[in-house]
Amino acid sequence: DEEKAKSGKKKKFIYDPESFNGIKEALTQICMVALREAYPQLEIEQVVQPSGKPMFGDYQFNAAMQVSKELKNLGIKCAPAEVGKAIASKLPANKIIDKVEVAPAGFINMWLSKEFCRNLLLEQVRCGIKPPKLEKRLRIVVDFSAPNVAKQMHVGHLRSTIIGDSIARSLEFLGHDVLRINHVGDWGTQFGMLIAHLQDTFPNYLNEMPPIEDLQKFYKESKLRFDTDEDFKKRAYECVVNLQGHEKDHVKGWQQICEISRKEFQSIYDQLNIKLIERGESFYQSRMESTVEYLREKGFLEMDDGRLIMFGLEEGNIPFTIVKSDGGFTYDTSDMAAIRQRIEEEKADWIIYVTDMGQSNHFKVLYSCAERCGFYDPSKVRIDHVGFGVVLGEDRKKFKTRSGDTVKLQELLDEGLSRSEETLKSKNRHNVLTPEEFEAAKKAVAYGCIKYADLCHNRVNDYVFSFDKMLDDKGNTAVYMLYAVTRIRSIASNANITSKQLIEAAKTERIPVDHEKEWKLVKALLRFHDELIKITEDLCLHHLCEYLYDVASSFTEFYDACYCIEKDGKTGEVLKIHMDRLLLCEATALVMEKCFWILGLTPVSRM
Ligand code: ARG
Repeated sequence: DEEKAKSGKKKKFIYDPESFNGIKEALTQICMVALREAYPQLEIEQVVQPSGKPMFGDYQFNAAMQVSKELKNLGIKCAPAEVGKAIASKLPANKIIDKVEVAPAGFINMWLSKEFCRNLLLEQVRCGIKPPKLEKRLRIVVDFSAPNVAKQMHVGHLRSTIIGDSIARSLEFLGHDVLRINHVGDWGTQFGMLIAHLQDTFPNYLNEMPPIEDLQKFYKESKLRFDTDEDFKKRAYECVVNLQGHEKDHVKGWQQICEISRKEFQSIYDQLNIKLIERGESFYQSRMESTVEYLREKGFLEMDDGRLIMFGLEEGNIPFTIVKSDGGFTYDTSDMAAIRQRIEEEKADWIIYVTDMGQSNHFKVLYSCAERCGFYDPSKVRIDHVGFGVVLGEDRKKFKTRSGDTVKLQELLDEGLSRSEETLKSKNRHNVLTPEEFEAAKKAVAYGCIKYADLCHNRVNDYVFSFDKMLDDKGNTAVYMLYAVTRIRSIASNANITSKQLIEAAKTERIPVDHEKEWKLVKALLRFHDELIKITEDLCLHHLCEYLYDVASSFTEFYDACYCIEKDGKTGEVLKIHMDRLLLCEATALVMEKCFWILGLTPVSRM
């Protein structure tokens, strides 16, 4: 019975040749089937890894050491090399592995079957790149961007917007049910002073949209009055009370202020092609009330200096402020109501918060409080805080304009556009491309480089914002990648091969694997699924950028070594077209474009 109970805990592995979830996943299943069969008494789980050196094959399974150790604990002596051999002898029949070698340390080195790989890649050229099969379609809330009304949307929000969008895209591509939520800061006491100031400056606000050009200036003006004028301050408080009591004129003023901010935010989202559902803190007002009631009833709140606070499960961490001494709610309260709403109403299986690392403690306290009061069960819901570092200027100090002001996002995007235009003109593109093509390239480069520069670094680090670096056409940059794809696509079109002909060729031709560089490229292209899965584990997009760079480099090596189109050196006349290699070019472009899609980059047909 004990045996039974034990084996119940053990994860089952099956090798199903019909479903393909990426090479690494398939090999892992194969090796785990063998491991379970060779050592049914052990519970070890291990994934296959790409080999570090060609002499160790393409992938390795390194479970032998651990198996040997655990056997020893059971009183069985078996050297890792023996273990490796035993596992290798149990590998189920499959089409993926061509050759297996067991190293003296017990590592199982595996070489991929060229036949299997070329067929798989051809399938992708024929039918497009499909996501791996989902075990379960998850309901996922991605909470990202989240600027604050009437305040500057700053570079930190830009990072959150770019990273959040890309995470949402990866999960959408995998087939999950993703809810993209913009948790806008649109509630709180600052609206009292904003409305009071609105009443004074635009008394007609109930009948027409106030013509506020610069909402941040408006915010600063009202803040100044709030800090210096006692009467105004009193009125501001009354306005808050009225607003939270849903008095209709105050609600109208609040709506108008939000609307002005919303337009500014939306224009940034439109330019960057980012979709979000706005569901700000105000959305949770009634839920905050019921949540506070619940927490009070259940005895989770403590009085502290006039405010109501709540501690999480961990001792020693700072508490959440649930109700302020003036009775108002806080950022903490809205996050408590939101996490509950997302789990109970949205039925979220997974919640992802994308903000700067500075908020990581806030989220730790949030999970802890939510778990303590029963809103959140970590064994049922996955929650991640996707934190990122701060944006620095080229002087490695906080990112500021030359005059020392905070950088306005719109101005940053505009500068991106003009810098992109300069770069393209310096390459004489304006004389080569049509005006429409030039415009498309300009935008693709400008927005692409801003996104890519952010995504290609490990997000937890601070990052230096530099247009010069982003617009470099060498190295791991958007410009390099965009060029690479247009160049690859142009190989066939320059030889007057239409995409129709390529599709036709895909029916009869095979993907070439004989040349060492062809084979290297094929293997790189088939790693796409593994990279995607890796992203869903640690939510780090730089893996995908590194992968993209790897594919582009493998392509260059292939293209330098293997003719796709042979031309007469003198006349330029086309002598021979290697259709099979053009298919490999096509496969490369397809994989790179899929990566672009996930990273939010727009490929251009000419550049
Ligand atoms: N508005 C916040 C800020 O600007 C970010 C909100 C993030 N989302 C959340 N659920 N707390 O810092």
